[in-house]
Amino acid sequence: MSEGKTVKTDQEKDETEDAEDLDFLEDDDTLEEFSADPVEEERRSSIINTGKPHRKVQDWDDEDVDVDFDDQLCQELGVSKAVVTATELGLQFPSLVVEGKTKSKTSSSNMLQRSLGKQGLVCSAQGFGAMGLTAFYGNAVSDDHVVTVLKRCLELGINFIDTAEVYQAKQSDGTILFNESVLGKAMSIIGREKFVICSKHYPRQGLKNKDDLRKTIFEACNASLKRLQVDTIDLYYLHRMYASPIQIEDVIEVFAELVGEGKIKYLGLSEAPPNFIRRAHAIHPISAIQQEWSLIARDLEAKGSVVDTCRELGIGIVPYSPVARGFLSGQFQDKTPSDWRASVPYLLEENRGGNIQVIRNVEALAKGKDLTLSQLSLAWVMNQGDDVVPIPGTTKIKHLEENAMAVKVNLTKEEMNTISTAASHIKGPRGNKSYMSGAFQAHIV
Ligand SMILES: NC(=O)c1ccc[n+]([C@@H]2O[C@H](COP(=O)([O-])OP(=O)(O)OC[C@H]3O[C@@H](n4cnc5c(N)ncnc54)[C@H](OP(=O)(O)O)[C@@H]3O)[C@@H](O)[C@H]2O)c1
Repeated sequence: MSEGKTVKTDQEKDETEDAEDLDFLEDDDTLEEFSADPVEEERRSSIINTGKPHRKVQDWDDEDVDVDFDDQLCQELGVSKAVVTATELGLQFPSLVVEGKTKSKTSSSNMLQRSLGKQGLVCSAQGFGAMGLTAFYGNAVSDDHVVTVLKRCLELGINFIDTAEVYQAKQSDGTILFNESVLGKAMSIIGREKFVICSKHYPRQGLKNKDDLRKTIFEACNASLKRLQVDTIDLYYLHRMYASPIQIEDVIEVFAELVGEGKIKYLGLSEAPPNFIRRAHAIHPISAIQQEWSLIARDLEAKGSVVDTCRELGIGIVPYSPVARGFLSGQFQDKTPSDWRASVPYLLEENRGGNIQVIRNVEALAKGKDLTLSQLSLAWVMNQGDDVVPIPGTTKIKHLEENAMAVKVNLTKEEMNTISTAASHIKGPRGNKSYMSGAFQAHIV
């Protein structure tokens, strides 16, 4: 985004409008009506859309700029279309967005692309965690709403969608609702090819030998493929490490077979200790490690831990719960969550008081940059490096849009340090005993 540059005057705008290039978008067009033509796709992804068609109204410098002017809203806000700056539009009115394209550093898209690992996995710089749409965080949203959310993700340039076989919820009639099934249904409507789909295999207990393991993983993967209604899962993680006597090498050999059969494309591990990452990577290249990483969960930054190991081996990092399960958006400041999160120690009554003060300090820094707390928290994660693709989750379009804006925020080293310092002194681990027994936690000394 070209910050601080003013939009042209009315007269200049009129002149530019004469030369408007509207051939790719008629007023009645909807985003869905675009073809899958790559050029058209590129144009489409360059638009931050408010759900309505945009018009290219001007150039500045040598950049084309797509602007969605909502006359009525500008009027209500008392803002002249001709004088608002990109910064004002982008930060103050998230539904009115200006985006530089073609030669801008965000490539031709409003959403940066990032590579995870060295095997060719490329996806949006910010992903979407779908878990909370159906499981663990209250009631499941409707199937229609899932379609709406995923469409909006694409419109915002987000194509990296995270799910897992264990994202299940028991429904009132006793049946199990699989997050994968709901996503599969939605993606079959929208078009599977538009997404980079990630899912995970959860370890089973009591497996006796390698044959047992192979059969179990193949069955689990086939079931995920079926629920997702796809032939291939783009990124397939081992969700947690198998307990002894199952060796990580044996698991990865089976995953490699799945790659060979075209059932999965790239491999990932979630909550893996550094020595497991190394051993797995020696058997088959690992593209991504998924691990909790937010201003509240920072153990993976310890020297020699997950971040260092990934960087040494060229593996991408996918931070989960980057908004601290809602706490870094300002939620749960006055009450303990009433769902699964009631077990998360940093959200418990005894820790919350001190933690809220910590959050307030970060919020003050966010305000100073015209950002929301969620945006600054996400920007802090995204500014950790080009090898980092966080997957915030939300059920709300408004929050999705707000979070997507974080991709535009560049933080200096000094700002990163200030934010890190402000967020230190969080009390309570990121999971209770039972959660942490399956998770990896480095100890920061
Ligand atoms: N590998 C693992 O073991 C593991 C573990 C946990 C999660 N995950 C993955 O990571 C994904 C993200 O984790 P998460 O869902 O805990 O992510 P999160 O983004 O840290 O937290 C999501 C919560 O924050 C709220 N929220 C998000 N943005 C907001 C905003 N701008 N304003 C207000 N509230 C906001 C959401 O509420 P609203 O719905 O009201 O917006 C939701 O309750 C999951 O969906 C899942 O795919 C993986």
